[in-house]
Amino acid sequence: MISQKMQEAINDQINAELYSGYLYLAMSAYFQDINLSGFANWMRVQAQEELMHAMKFYDFLAERGGTVVLQAIEQPPATWDSPSTPFEQAYEHEVGVTQRIHNLVHLSLEERDYATNTFLDWFVNEQVEEEASADAIVRKLSLIGSDKSGLFMIDRELATRVFVPPTPADGAAG
Ligand code: FEO
Repeated sequence: MISQKMQEAINDQINAELYSGYLYLAMSAYFQDINLSGFANWMRVQAQEELMHAMKFYDFLAERGGTVVLQAIEQPPATWDSPSTPFEQAYEHEVGVTQRIHNLVHLSLEERDYATNTFLDWFVNEQVEEEASADAIVRKLSLIGSDKSGLFMIDRELATRVFVPPTPADGAAG
């Protein structure tokens, strides 16, 4: 059984992950609008990953005998002023998500909830990757500056990203 406090924190995290998905899907739509389909693809895959993160928390909470309570998802922005801005924001957003995950780890220790603590390990590691992948693109974009051919080269590279569905070995149900 999971404590009320931990349950509420996980429900909040489900909402945060769904918002992340919404944010990246909005960024994907923006890139589609300005004809950068590789950038749009990368953001769309990122949105799928966020939904997978939400479902990991959802399944875990249900498995622990908790109650999933879905909350309203905040509306994300619809437009940005340049192709690099969404990636700068994505990086900052992921730094914030990392902080949220660390807060959950802290709470799990306070609650002596070792099952949740172990479950959160996956997210602690995942956040290292989440920050690094957004930061790598921010750096590339800053390197090319206003060079259009560089932008299209990155667009081609980002077009190759594919969503890899989690396997049961990753600890996600379904
Ligand atoms: Fe679910 Fe991008 O962290």
